[in-house]
Amino acid sequence: MLIAQISDTHISQPDPGEPDTLERISMLQEFVAYIGEMEEKPDLILHTGDVSQDGKPEEYDIVKSMLRSIDIPVFFALGNRDLVANLVDGLKDLGQAKLVDDFLIYSIDGFPVRFIAMDTQKRKYRMGTTCSVRLSILEELLAEQPDIPTALFMHHPPFEVPTSKYPFQFDDPVLADTFLRLVARHKQVVHLFCGHMHRQFSAKLENCNASVSPSLSPCNRLGEYKAEWQERPLFQLHRWKPDMLQFETRLTSVGC
Ligand SMILES: [Fe+2]
Repeated sequence: MLIAQISDTHISQPDPGEPDTLERISMLQEFVAYIGEMEEKPDLILHTGDVSQDGKPEEYDIVKSMLRSIDIPVFFALGNRDLVANLVDGLKDLGQAKLVDDFLIYSIDGFPVRFIAMDTQKRKYRMGTTCSVRLSILEELLAEQPDIPTALFMHHPPFEVPTSKYPFQFDDPVLADTFLRLVARHKQVVHLFCGHMHRQFSAKLENCNASVSPSLSPCNRLGEYKAEWQERPLFQLHRWKPDMLQFETRLTSVGC
């Protein structure tokens, strides 16, 4: 099983006065074309949030118009810049985006690995968070299938990314710890896929691995990369290794 992960596309209306808006759209177009030509296509695509710049319906329309040509389901987690109702309305046809108690938390079933989108957005705020309602929704989902390897995907990492200038992006370390303790209690959880930091990172947590995918576009990407990749769209490919019960991650450049 092969997964493609993109993150932090920050798509907005194209504005020639703001070249970044044009670059972000063209990088997503290049990604779509690249996926279309891959010999071994991913089974699904995960977008770990900040799909849009301002959460506007027309921004999700732009994303949908590009991603719908991919014949692979695309699933979304909610970023701090996304607006949950507009994201769900705009993009639910591409994969599945289900709201429970107004939180974007849902499972993707039918693959060798089960995926669960976790909503870490503190509404109208930049930092990540969680709460008892979200944790109980997650707990219920995890309890449904305790024996299937499961990966969670979300926008804000609930752990420190020490290579960042702002390493911890949850509003409350106690809440992040509560979340991670819940994850550790469910031994089927093998991986947390995150975004938000705009840089690549990987970590070993108590009972599972975790990783952060960099921004797709160079204009808002952080961190060090090979010289030939610096102007290219970057995303991650995660190959499931059933014998090792873990994913093998490869940072991938479109066109190089
Ligand atoms: Fe973010």
